[in-house]
Amino acid sequence: MVQLTLPKGSAPKKGKVWPKPEGKSVKAFKIYRYSPEEGGNPRWDTFFVDTTKCGPMVLDILIYIKNNIDSTLAFRRSCREGVCGSCAMSIGGQNTIACTKGWDEVAGNTITIAPLPSQPVIKDLIPDLTNFYAQHAYVQPFLKTDTPEPETEWTQSEEDREELDGLYECILCASCSTSCPSYWWNGDKYLGPAALLQAYRWLIDSRDEATGERLDDLEDPFKLYRCHTIMNCAQVCPKGLNPAKAIAKIKHMMVERVV
Ligand code: SF4
Ligand code: FES
Repeated sequence: MVQLTLPKGSAPKKGKVWPKPEGKSVKAFKIYRYSPEEGGNPRWDTFFVDTTKCGPMVLDILIYIKNNIDSTLAFRRSCREGVCGSCAMSIGGQNTIACTKGWDEVAGNTITIAPLPSQPVIKDLIPDLTNFYAQHAYVQPFLKTDTPEPETEWTQSEEDREELDGLYECILCASCSTSCPSYWWNGDKYLGPAALLQAYRWLIDSRDEATGERLDDLEDPFKLYRCHTIMNCAQVCPKGLNPAKAIAKIKHMMVERVV
């Protein structure tokens, strides 16, 4: 039975409203806060930032807040270039990565920032992605072949290489999987858009020789078939990828092998 209410103790409460500086360029940011050491419910803190004092991205705002207002604010980031995937979060109600999302691209006077939905929260904007990474590991994201490795580069034809376009660019940010209602309800059994896009990336690699084995591993009522083409995944992907299309192609491969 699906639980439609938040578990006890997890509904965010109104939190602290931090001092508002003077100025015409001051913007409000409502940020989800949760600290396991403090206990209690999570809360929404409101921060005001003079946007003339920081860079153009939402990550710049978070770094400004951490450096100048509240050093206890916790969030992940690394590359600041949209390649590591670590700064994914919900910004203005949509999953994306904070380092390439301009705060001026988000509508409204107050911008809401929360951790990726449906995952346990470790602290503030940091989700626990243990299950997400385990699902990635499940699809065995590496070349599987009995052919001895060549001593030099393992080449592909241009056409075969092009098959990987739209797949290899995935930065495993988890924005897609955690925006998917099917994943919210069955995230322990349904592999989700990100892991399945990765599965297809290896299924379609002309050098891989484990296609049948890989399809066997996905042949299950939940792992693959819980995709109902809701398409949130393609809508939110900050790299412009289309996991739903990759999932549809896996389903097609499943059908093809039985006819
Ligand atoms: S497909 Fe896009 S949204 Fe999903 S994990 Fe990869 S980069 Fe992130
Ligand atoms: S910090 Fe690496 S993707 Fe944002």
